[in-house]
Amino acid sequence: MSNYHIKHLEEYYQVYRKSVREPENFWAEVAEEHFMWRKRWDNVLSWDFKKPEIKWFEGAQLNITENCIDRHLRTKGDHTAIIFEPNNPDETAEHITYQQLHDRVCQMANVMKDKGVKKGDRVCIYLPMIPELAISLLACARIGAIHSVVFAGFSSKALASRINDSACKMVITSDGSYRGSKTIDLKSIVDGGLESCPTVENVLVVNRINSDITMKEGRDLWLQPLLDAASAVCEPEIMNAEDPLFILYTSGSTGKPKGMVHTTGGYMVYTAYTFKNVFQYKDGDVYWCTADIGWITGHSYIVYGPLANGATTVMFEGVPQYPDFGRFWQIVEKHKVNQFYTAPTAIRALAKQNISFLENYDLSSLKVLGSVGEPINEEAWHWYNDNVGKHKSPIVDTWWQTETGGIMITPIPYVTPTKPTYATLPFPGIQPALMDESGNVIKGNQVDGRLCIKFPWPSIARTIWGNHERYKETYFSAYENMYFTGDGALRDEVGYYRITGRVDDVIIVSGHNLGTAPIEDAINEHPAVAESAIVGFPHDVKGNALYGYVMLKETGESRDQNNLRNEINQLIKDRVGAIAKLDKIQFTDGLPKTRSGKIMRRILRKIASKDFSNLGDTSTLLNPECVQVIIDESL
Ligand code: PRX
Repeated sequence: MSNYHIKHLEEYYQVYRKSVREPENFWAEVAEEHFMWRKRWDNVLSWDFKKPEIKWFEGAQLNITENCIDRHLRTKGDHTAIIFEPNNPDETAEHITYQQLHDRVCQMANVMKDKGVKKGDRVCIYLPMIPELAISLLACARIGAIHSVVFAGFSSKALASRINDSACKMVITSDGSYRGSKTIDLKSIVDGGLESCPTVENVLVVNRINSDITMKEGRDLWLQPLLDAASAVCEPEIMNAEDPLFILYTSGSTGKPKGMVHTTGGYMVYTAYTFKNVFQYKDGDVYWCTADIGWITGHSYIVYGPLANGATTVMFEGVPQYPDFGRFWQIVEKHKVNQFYTAPTAIRALAKQNISFLENYDLSSLKVLGSVGEPINEEAWHWYNDNVGKHKSPIVDTWWQTETGGIMITPIPYVTPTKPTYATLPFPGIQPALMDESGNVIKGNQVDGRLCIKFPWPSIARTIWGNHERYKETYFSAYENMYFTGDGALRDEVGYYRITGRVDDVIIVSGHNLGTAPIEDAINEHPAVAESAIVGFPHDVKGNALYGYVMLKETGESRDQNNLRNEINQLIKDRVGAIAKLDKIQFTDGLPKTRSGKIMRRILRKIASKDFSNLGDTSTLLNPECVQVIIDESL
């Protein structure tokens, strides 16, 4: 039996059982049969969730780009690896073959080497969704540099803090980016950030929008002339399976973003294996994930997972509403997309539009529909199923995280019967557990609890860059010998999982993870602000929107509150990014606090969602009287 490609339910159960009973044999077989290793591993797995320390395929040597590119050249050199669909539908789409990808990655790698980037150096990539973004990731991997992609919607400050946290030596960016009818001046955002980034030696700049930008002498270099002069051959750096491949920052409930570190061998095996099965990808299919490569979904399921399978992966530069709300469907028709992977927030936004935007296009190529990033509500699920899938393309509601590297709980299409809003069953190798509040495993079905994972899988993040203690504290200390996800979940009568949402202070807005701390810090920088608290409240497109309770230093109506609201949102935009702007701001004279001085967000969340029943016991608060005042103010 080949474990690699699961085709029916019985086979799933067989494979799953094997992955639990003999995890090492199971993963060794997958790794052995489907990848190219320069040296075989000495040990499949060693792990200790107490330290925590997790190692997969120790002793093995490889280069992930050989697996994603070189090994396909003989049979698929002229097949399309990446289809680049530009923001403007009138601009011609680019089809990059595996051979061309090879050459472009090698040229980029040689440019980086020439500028002094070596194995283990960190390179920050701050680019729009253009081919150079995927190529930069792969070029780093080619030479063993560790990429740290920062989503190009983050502000100068957010960019600088990520660059400094991992002491990046180089930044790769563009003059600007297209986003619908707008252009964004990326280079000036980078320039602003770099004022406080002493480790950056060079900035490579892609010319995307032909804008007139300033280039800092000795630091900034236009990329294209360097690429033109570079050789298209670059021998891959031989990496150990446990060498870091990339850092990707994700928000935590407190403190600054966490630089999750993913390593090479296990990440490759897991993303490739999940890609193959979760999308039932077959040679010749065209696969499209609408995420940005600035997030983990793009890393794993636009770049590494698809390319490791020799797939054709679409990269879309634009937004769903430009030039109109039919754009996604126009792209599906144009490129005859077979697998389509997007986020519930996009589905909800599209479902609100006139159905003719969708009906104008031929969607008959679609075979699998994916959802990721946040819980998909029942209405959105049905809209997707009825109108996009037309009841013939199964929906895979895939639950996973930046930290998990790959998809963890998901249906396998045409294999697992789907159920609206349920991510259904664990992928082979994944051993979920639901925990109660006193730290016990909840047995049986029809139960809910906090979602943990009992056993390591190959693509689990190995640490937080520069802060292993925080890694331990965040993921391995809530429950003994378990990885804690931060999510709540329920398990139904047949063992299907439904993810109910975060149980910590991370808020998912339009599928983006936002920690409250950096946003509150930004607000508190305003000279008029004494203190603030951010919570999420339900929003029909974004899933959650942000609600800020802001205490001013001087109470009373003396200041223009609308002005203040704008100033606060401007601060958030500058410090964090536009995605973190608040939908509602309530000025208040008090915030409910526990006797130890912690803000009781639970109460604030309820007030923000206008759910005034059941506020729980407020008598233990330091200032119980403020609760009614906040309710009254909110009305
Ligand atoms: O709360 C879960 C939610 O997104 C969180 C992870 O966010 P991030 O690290 O940004 O990765 C997003 C893309 C993998 C999770 O802790 N989440 C992700 N997928 C789902 C989901 N919630 C419900 N259903 C999902 N399918």
